This record gives sequence, structure tokens and C-alpha cells, in this order.
Amino acid sequence: MSGVSLRPMRWWDIAPAARIDRDRFGETAWTEAQFWGELAQPTRFYVVAEDPDAGVVGYAGLWLMPPDSDVQTLAIAAGWERTGLGSRLLGRLLEEADQRGCTRTILEVRADNSRAINLYARHGFATISRRSSYYGPGLDAVIMCRDLRYAS
Ligand SMILES: CC(C)(COP(=O)(O)OP(=O)(O)OC[C@H]1O[C@@H](n2cnc3c(N)ncnc32)[C@H](O)[C@@H]1OP(=O)(O)O)[C@@H](O)C(=O)NCCC(=O)NCCS
Repeated sequence: MSGVSLRPMRWWDIAPAARIDRDRFGETAWTEAQFWGELAQPTRFYVVAEDPDAGVVGYAGLWLMPPDSDVQTLAIAAGWERTGLGSRLLGRLLEEADQRGCTRTILEVRADNSRAINLYARHGFATISRRSSYYGPGLDAVIMCRDLRYAS
């Protein structure tokens, strides 16, 4: 796993990223057109995790609007989880947010996605609210925030 490196997402990463997205998010997955739309925005920062043999095995994206930023997406290919890649990608997004003067980062995550919620909590995110049926009937969202002004 140590051979996996992080680099900015390019247009040729869209097809493999969209495949992982479909696999991980099912019917709520982004289309390739949505990824194209994201990469076209100068306010976005997207990174991929690339293995020399397997290619793109994860990706993450951030919307920068200093002093705020928003985690747009984060996913690791099945079979590549629990090796620290999610943490590395999220860490890279937050490093970029810090460098660009964003003191607050917000995200939404499904309330039943405890693996992701734990990952975000380890990176300083706290739950600030909950949106009922945000992802569909009975599928609540948790809103999490990392605010450097209140960080210890
Ligand atoms: C949520 C997600 C991004 C986490 O990615 P990940 O690469 O597994 O994350 P990490 O490896 O950094 O950490 C996950 C767990 O693995 C553990 N871990 C990290 N490195 C490890 C290692 N070398 N050996 C064993 N466990 C390890 C972490 O401690 C953590 O444990 P926890 O879940 O009990 O807290 C991934 O599961 C995913 O893509 N899920 C589907 C899409 C999704 O839900 N995205 C988030 C939408 S908001």
C-alpha cells in the first residue's frame, strides 16, 4: 500500500473515479458529467490516490470558498479500505483548505455511515446538525464541521 501516491485529479481520472463512485454510492453516484463539471470549477480541489499497478483506487474533492470549504466527496475502492487511504486523502484536502485560508470545513454524511463519521471525527470534525431524510426516505444526513477557530 505504501506504493500508493496522491496527486491532483485530471480529466483522464474521471472514468475510473466514476466507476468507483458507482460501486460505492449506487444510485446516488455522480455521473462522469458531474465529475467534469466539478473539475471545470476553479474553486474545486480534487485529488486521486493512485496505485502503480491498480491505477486510481480513491479520490476526494473539496470546494474552496475562503474562509469556508466543503468536502464534496471522498471514496476508496472496495478492497483498498482500512489501509489509511481515506485518512491520507482527507488530510490532503484539509492541508489545502488550511493553505488557502479556510478556517471552517463542512460536510454531509449519511447518519448510518459510521466508518466515514469516525474518520471525520479523527480529523477534527464535530457533528453540528442532522437533516431528516436528506438522502431519501429514512436516510438522514449528519452535518459535520471542522472549525479551526475553536480547535484546541
Ligand atoms: C469512508 C471511507 C472513505 C474510509 O476510507 P478508508 O481508507 O477505509 O479510511 P482509513 O483507512 O483512513 O480509516 C478507516 C479505518 O481503518 C483503520 N485503519 C487505517 N489504517 C489501517 C491499517 N493499516 N490496518 C488496519 N486498519 C487500519 C482506521 O483506524 C479506521 O478504523 P475505524 O473505521 O474503526 O475508525 C471508505 O470506507 C469509503 O470509501 N466508503 C464508501 C464511500 C463513503 O462512504 N464515503 C464517504 C462519504 S461522506
